[in-house]
Amino acid sequence: MDLALGLPGFHLVGLPDHACNDARTRVLTAVRNSGYQLPQKKITVNLAPGDLRKQGVAFDLPIAVGILVAAGLVPLPERPPLVVGELALSGEVLPVRGVLPIGLEARRLGFQELIVPEPNAPEGALVQGLRVRGARTLAEAAETFSGTNLRAPASPAAQTAPAVTADLSEVRGQATAKWGLEIAAAGGHNALLIGPPGAGKTMLARRLPGLLPAMTFEEAVEATSIWSVAGRLQRGQGLLALRPFRAPHHTISVAGLIGGGTPLRPGEISLAHRGVLFLDELPEYGRAALEALRQPLEDGEVSLVRAQDRATMPARFMLLGAMNPCPCGHAADPDPDRCTCTLAAKEGYRRRVSGPILDRFDLHIEVGALPPADLLGQPQGEGSGPVRERVEGARALQRRRYAHIPGLHCNAQLSGPAARRLANATEEARSELAALIEIRGLSARAHDRMLKLARTIADLQGDERVGKAHVHEASQLRCLDRRVDGRPPPRVPQLQLARGAAVHRTPGEQPAGLPREGT
Ligand SMILES: Nc1ncnc2c1ncn2[C@@H]1O[C@H](COP(=O)(O)OP(=O)(O)O)[C@@H](O)[C@H]1O
Ligand SMILES: [Mg+2]
Repeated sequence: MDLALGLPGFHLVGLPDHACNDARTRVLTAVRNSGYQLPQKKITVNLAPGDLRKQGVAFDLPIAVGILVAAGLVPLPERPPLVVGELALSGEVLPVRGVLPIGLEARRLGFQELIVPEPNAPEGALVQGLRVRGARTLAEAAETFSGTNLRAPASPAAQTAPAVTADLSEVRGQATAKWGLEIAAAGGHNALLIGPPGAGKTMLARRLPGLLPAMTFEEAVEATSIWSVAGRLQRGQGLLALRPFRAPHHTISVAGLIGGGTPLRPGEISLAHRGVLFLDELPEYGRAALEALRQPLEDGEVSLVRAQDRATMPARFMLLGAMNPCPCGHAADPDPDRCTCTLAAKEGYRRRVSGPILDRFDLHIEVGALPPADLLGQPQGEGSGPVRERVEGARALQRRRYAHIPGLHCNAQLSGPAARRLANATEEARSELAALIEIRGLSARAHDRMLKLARTIADLQGDERVGKAHVHEASQLRCLDRRVDGRPPPRVPQLQLARGAAVHRTPGEQPAGLPREGT
């Protein structure tokens, strides 16, 4: 900030974008309309660092306060607060997006005070250890800044009361699918629901957030920060109380899904951070959109680069998909004549969801058509509450087991080698798994995913070791491992399975497709 002798004028340097450049006019008019008399000097405002693009309108208020200080109209306090806000021409301070993350950053930088637009103050006050004061006008902001007339600190917005969510007990029948959802929730596994139209896939999916553990304070702050940057928080809204559930339509663009635009905005995957991203009718989504999900699914964040902008946004979510088993939807019907699709049509349909995305789903849950008796009878079965309690129990076991590994919280996050090292499977369970992989001709990845699932099933049952029964159950939650013609895999006599794959091999030989330990 510089006021120099010369032709009166106002220069903004340091790569301001359009909105920011308009700040020149807004700021000068607002200053004048607030009753301040600027000296007839040339004003230069440098937005540092020069190589970073400055976006948006939140710089109005700090620029205006800075000019008043430079002009000697407002005294500079010993420990200046951080200031954000947009200005109306009248001098009124208008709300901005992203106050929560700005507050977190201010605290990290060592600021003790933050001045924000009055409507944003309860949001900023969510940051503990930072005094946040709201200002309604430029004059109020300037007086609070200098300490000549302090506005009272804001109190944090109350956490939004959890909306009444859909309960699992409303879903009739579908015991297997519910069990699958519980396992997905317990281990944080991505899951795909497969079944005919009307079976209740969408209904089940919407009930997943209610089965997940409540967000920790840190998780809620992270999720709410993203919603704040996206401008999605209601006025006076506190931390998000429920894990987000995002269900974007299949016509969504890549930018809408992963983020983008000018200025950069978070996409659906970031809005789903710490919650659930639900892709209903999965094969209908554009290939580019599905491909764009791969990296974020791997990393838990997304890197966006647009011209001069770049940003990394958090995107750690559970992916839940739903699809029909074939174009007509009836491939898995007990009556084989019900399905009218050719084998080629079925294969083509499944290919629309590319292999690498299908491969991200630990569970493929079959949701059968609901028998009329189930639909007409009384709804029965557990509500979401008891299920969530079991999920919390299983999560606690995982946290304890992985306490020594930073960033690892649940079974779904285990890499293949880590799963093999840490699953604590019995010898019997391991040979059972090996046999299943060999019989079905599956890959090493399928092996590792089944092992992780078995680990979660054991955690839900409070079992320290993964046993044969857990492996068996896990194998039934991956129906896509079976052939596309819907026929079950070739049956193997129970006796052989029980003895494991060793019957087929000389000792020490590895079954095809099975990874060696440590590779
Ligand atoms: N298992 C079920 N229990 C209760 N209602 C169901 C069930 N399955 C389907 N329905 C009813 O049928 C409607 C359509 O279900 P939906 O979840 O959209 O099926 P899908 O997504 O598998 O096509 C639901 O809104 C619900 O009223
Ligand atoms: Mg549906």
